[in-house]
Amino acid sequence: MERNSSQFLMTMDEVMLLLQKNNSSVIIMDVDGVIRLCNQTFILQTGYAREDVVHKSIKQIIPNMKDVRFWITDYFESIHSNQPYRENRSIIVQMRNKTSQSSEYSIEKLQCTDDNQLYMLTFLDMNLYNGLNLFHRFSDSFMKDVNLGVILINTEFRLIDISDMACQVLGFVREEVMNQPMDVVFKGVPIDHQLVQRTILHGHTVRNHAFSWTSNDIRYELLMDSNLLKDETGAIVGGYVIFKDVSNLRSLEEQVQRSDRLSMIGQIAAGTAHEIRNPLTSIKGFLQVLKKTFKTKGMDKEFGYTEIMLTEIDRINQLVSEFLLLSKPKNVIFELMDISKVFREILPIIHNEAILHGVVVEYITEGTLPDVLGDRELFKQVCLNISKNGIEAMTEGGILTIVERVDSEEKKVNIDIHDSGPGIPSFLIDKIFDPFFTTKENGTGLGLSICQRIVLDLGGTIRVASKGFGTTFTISIPFSES
Ligand SMILES: Nc1ncnc2c1ncn2[C@@H]1O[C@H](COP(=O)(O)OP(=O)(O)OP(=O)(O)O)[C@@H](O)[C@H]1O
Ligand SMILES: [Mg+2]
Repeated sequence: MERNSSQFLMTMDEVMLLLQKNNSSVIIMDVDGVIRLCNQTFILQTGYAREDVVHKSIKQIIPNMKDVRFWITDYFESIHSNQPYRENRSIIVQMRNKTSQSSEYSIEKLQCTDDNQLYMLTFLDMNLYNGLNLFHRFSDSFMKDVNLGVILINTEFRLIDISDMACQVLGFVREEVMNQPMDVVFKGVPIDHQLVQRTILHGHTVRNHAFSWTSNDIRYELLMDSNLLKDETGAIVGGYVIFKDVSNLRSLEEQVQRSDRLSMIGQIAAGTAHEIRNPLTSIKGFLQVLKKTFKTKGMDKEFGYTEIMLTEIDRINQLVSEFLLLSKPKNVIFELMDISKVFREILPIIHNEAILHGVVVEYITEGTLPDVLGDRELFKQVCLNISKNGIEAMTEGGILTIVERVDSEEKKVNIDIHDSGPGIPSFLIDKIFDPFFTTKENGTGLGLSICQRIVLDLGGTIRVASKGFGTTFTISIPFSES
């Protein structure tokens, strides 16, 4: 727009247009230094929001300015000119984040129709704009896109900003928690379990602190850092917490540990189980001889005792066999198997067990499943063990639902075994795969650890989900497309 401000008066709309068109950072102020308008570049450059500056004094932006009226009018009145005035010295501009930058500037006098006299102050240092613009864009995208939880707090322990990922993991709605005191944000969470501790404002630095957080029934394993934020004089202005979701890494680590533990127990088991079985076999043999003798001599009481002893020996034998399975089974027969077919073979056994407990079994299949490689007998044992656990967890009227499905993307066959029992409390869920962990009076606690061993050997996984009530075990076995 070609114009000479001394020749005609501009409307406010024209002033606005002038501002928008300008690539530099521009503010419009009156003769008292009250800011009337600013452009988008100025917002990006300084970090201020429009409402932070409009109707405020220019001294907020240029703090070391002395007499505004004098400074603005000095040049124009002394030389009686309305031409733009470019000053080659720099002024110090204070950004919203309290850092300062120096910038050259020009002032232009604008004659407006609906205001007496306005001045346009243009910050001319484009490097400053580029650098800061980049920084603002980085910090914006850091809060929005980066896969990190970020929380900023001020000295009053209020939440000043929070990244999208932090909202997602913590189950917060950004607008609801912004500017809230942290005690309100973490209301209901015991003080030791609050992710952001007031102590960061006392200079308590945290590095790589492992922390668990559960929201919407999903448990996250987090690794967090927190520290103070200080201004250039060293005064504390707030603090930040940054965290990373390491749930996958943790579960991998736990799987490795569990697998190590299992193989150690397996080795011990393999070594000792045979040694237990051998004497048991001879004890059992002699007991059978005794049993016969007691019978022929009519010694009914003693005969009864031998029967009990023999049943107990069978129990020990059974336990030792299970124990042996913990070591890598030696005669595993790998063959291509149709999971549906294998499952249908054990379904009658599951039904019988269900009838004994007064529960119902539902079996849902997607039809033809791809064949997977594995040992059918061991695979049957896994499905039986997990189904038995589900049935045992339910009272009369419960429903055990078995669903077979294909995950074509991950190339896996999944079997969900869901029960409508009481569920597994979250503090126990990590322990159920440990050998000898049981909550049952007559349980060995070996069932799930054996299942885990077998499925890991097939290159698969067993996952468990329990939300309040009901439990789903998912057995996933990979298949390869032929
Ligand atoms: N479906 C389920 N619902 C609730 N708790 C379960 C379920 N499955 C397993 N658990 C818990 O996990 C524990 C360990 O199971 P695991 O099969 O290893 O041993 P167990 O069933 O106790 O003993 P065993 O298998 O020798 O009979 C159980 O004692 C139970 O507390
Ligand atoms: Mg069991």
